[in-house]
Amino acid sequence: MSIISNSTARAIKDSADALMKGDLVAFPTETVYGLGADATNKDAIARIYMVKGRPVGHPLIVHISSLENLDKWARDIPEYAIKLARAFWPGPMTLILSRTDLAKDFITGGQDNVGIRVPSHVVALTLLKEFESLGGLGVAAPSANRFGAVSPTSVTAVEVELADYLSVNDKFLDGGTCMVGIESTIIDCTRSIPTILRPGAVSSEMITQILGLPLKSLNTKHNQVHAPGTLESHYSPKAKVFLNGTPVAGDGLIALHSFKTPIGVVRLASPIDNEDYARSLYKAFRLADSKKLEKIFAIPPTGDGIATAINDRLAKSAFEK
Ligand code: TXA
Ligand code: MG
Repeated sequence: MSIISNSTARAIKDSADALMKGDLVAFPTETVYGLGADATNKDAIARIYMVKGRPVGHPLIVHISSLENLDKWARDIPEYAIKLARAFWPGPMTLILSRTDLAKDFITGGQDNVGIRVPSHVVALTLLKEFESLGGLGVAAPSANRFGAVSPTSVTAVEVELADYLSVNDKFLDGGTCMVGIESTIIDCTRSIPTILRPGAVSSEMITQILGLPLKSLNTKHNQVHAPGTLESHYSPKAKVFLNGTPVAGDGLIALHSFKTPIGVVRLASPIDNEDYARSLYKAFRLADSKKLEKIFAIPPTGDGIATAINDRLAKSAFEK
């Protein structure tokens, strides 16, 4: 069993060493916890797939400490992508770009492009900087959950998901609860117009404001870029999720705090606004599963911005498998 560490300077240095040796490190980001490995180490990446139970061919996001390192991994970067990176990195945004030779098929799932992100969580950034100071070039990190399950937003949730699958040399860094709570916005930047492949806290409104450009609307069936995380069924708790209907005694409920809890219904989250809704959602899903509830009723948030991303995750979690 691996050991959870408080993210002291020492623990972060040890984690960077572990990554250099090919071990795995679960670490906090502002979105969700990631399961990290040296993005140039084929064997370490193979372990990520094993630990997650993730089918091969699902590409991984490479995390770097700064925009300065982007051209190691990506080439022919469009000007609009640089503008986005300047505006939103470090932060909850992943850019899909044409790859350099450094991004091997075992990272990209054989595609000619690579996903890159500079996270803003101080523990993630410090870990990436330490890793780069040892000669590392990037850390591949999918969300630290078993395939298809809910992303972890606390180190305890990572432990529940993955402790049984990790080895004694792997590490967990504790960085508290993730402030955003849902995964990064993924933007395909391989064509003349950017396309959002996965909505997140960097919203389409924020992107159009920076670029003054329209976005290509997402139509997963016709996307040329293959982003398996946009599968209809994903991000699912064990309980069945309903987005309409009325909960009865014993069912779970997620809704803004102004919504009253019917008698006997188990309140899983009462977020005060949409940002808080995003931050609470996965914790609420996990709580429902730990209480062995069969049904969760979620009242979808309204509005744009992060509400779009929450509604995307709710729709996926409610999708009939
Ligand atoms: O917020 C996040 O993005 C978190 C934290 C840890 O950074 N990471 C994360 O990774 O959510 P993951 O692997 O759980 O989800 C990434 C999604 C996957 O569905 C993958 O298919 C897609 O991004 N993806 C990664 N690289 C891609 C690429 N080159 N082209 C298309 N889709 C890609
Ligand atoms: Mg994931």
